[in-house]
Amino acid sequence: MDKMWVKGGAILNGQVKTSGAKNSALPIIFSSLLAEGKHVFFNVPDLLDISSTRNLLESLNCKTKYENSTLTVEVSYLNEPLAHYDYVRKMRASILCLGPLLARYKKAQVSLPGGCAIGSRPVNMHIEGMQGLGAQVEIKEGYIYASTPEGLRGATVLFDLPTVGGTENIMMAAVLAEGTTVIENAAKEPEIVDLANYLIKMGAKVQGAGTGVITIQGVKKLNPAEHTIIPDRIEAGTLLLAGAITGGDVTVLDCDPSDIEPLIIKLKESGFDIEVGESSVRVLPCASWRGVDIMTAPHPAFPTDLQAQFMALMTQAQGTSLINESVFENRFMHVQELTRMSANITPKTKVAVVRGNKGGLIGAPVMATDLRASACLVLAGLVAVGETVVSRIYHLDRGYEGLEKKLASLGANIKRVSE
Ligand code: UD1
Repeated sequence: MDKMWVKGGAILNGQVKTSGAKNSALPIIFSSLLAEGKHVFFNVPDLLDISSTRNLLESLNCKTKYENSTLTVEVSYLNEPLAHYDYVRKMRASILCLGPLLARYKKAQVSLPGGCAIGSRPVNMHIEGMQGLGAQVEIKEGYIYASTPEGLRGATVLFDLPTVGGTENIMMAAVLAEGTTVIENAAKEPEIVDLANYLIKMGAKVQGAGTGVITIQGVKKLNPAEHTIIPDRIEAGTLLLAGAITGGDVTVLDCDPSDIEPLIIKLKESGFDIEVGESSVRVLPCASWRGVDIMTAPHPAFPTDLQAQFMALMTQAQGTSLINESVFENRFMHVQELTRMSANITPKTKVAVVRGNKGGLIGAPVMATDLRASACLVLAGLVAVGETVVSRIYHLDRGYEGLEKKLASLGANIKRVSE
């Protein structure tokens, strides 16, 4: 198993490109199950989660090929729409095959995802949504058995919370359902809009993606298409924060600045000068910044997927900041690791109190617990005195394409080492 070695102290400078969005690519690749034939996706990041998705699709009688960020998926008819535990346990987002399989084959057997480090992450809203569309669902022996002998029927689905995966799953189920589906309190993330755009390219009738109400008129058949995945806003934000935490001058290219507006606003509030271009964001050198409060919430609020990385920045701020995590109940696993690096943070149930101390972090061996926590520890390592070794970086490989190479290209002292 690989570890990440980081020696703190280098000031990052230069330009770096954003890769395609993991959280957009995953649902879009799963949506290919809705239409037999050859789908082509461009700007697909080279990640462990993408290999896990390919493996699952291949177990579902698809052929996949990945080269130079282009993924081709050839979808063939399937006799047994079964997503086995062996695949699902490697990636929770595998639950996203439920909607397309059920819509296409009128039945699906999908393993329930297991526990997760950042919270219990149930999938009840996915299941209730499918039931709302007329599916019969039974949970037994760790699997979701869903069937709808007459086919899915459009209905109004109201989510208690704007769930990203739940919205995507219901969208993918509803595009082939009979009649009209209205998703109320839908998630509004840019990845939802990207999925809608691909569904529309395949021939689906989807309106309102990116707002709280999505309306879908079912069609009889969809056809494969081609699509370029949007840039990864979380990766863009992480790279910008890497520049910021070192007091460097970093321009993140090939991103959509409007997708990271909450981060830009908070960086400015903290004292950073930010230059926003059409598809780039630049953070300018800053010697000292203030502690600011953030509260994570569904889009367009501050994303939970940047909370841990922002906390790393706040360990170097002047003053105190309150980090309020409102999306997941247990997303402070990085706090204990930052504390091992001498950060002064008090975690309460949903709020962490970070008392900034510039230069106060000291390198230590630390352990990554989840994807974004790993990125937080790498950022902390960039400014810690001495060496930091982050273990369990397979979490990082799930969601960041070559992060160490990108950071090294900006001047960071970072390398991957084998255990
Ligand atoms: C997606 C993202 C993840 C991000 C999260 C929130 C992907 C592959 N992952 O995860 O990176 O952190 O959105 O922006 O896109 N919930 C329920 N019941 C459900 C579904 C969700 O209670 O059936 C709860 C969750 O536990 C959580 C909240 O709803 O507290 C939001 O979760 P959700 O938006 O569904 O996150 P994911 O789609 O799993």
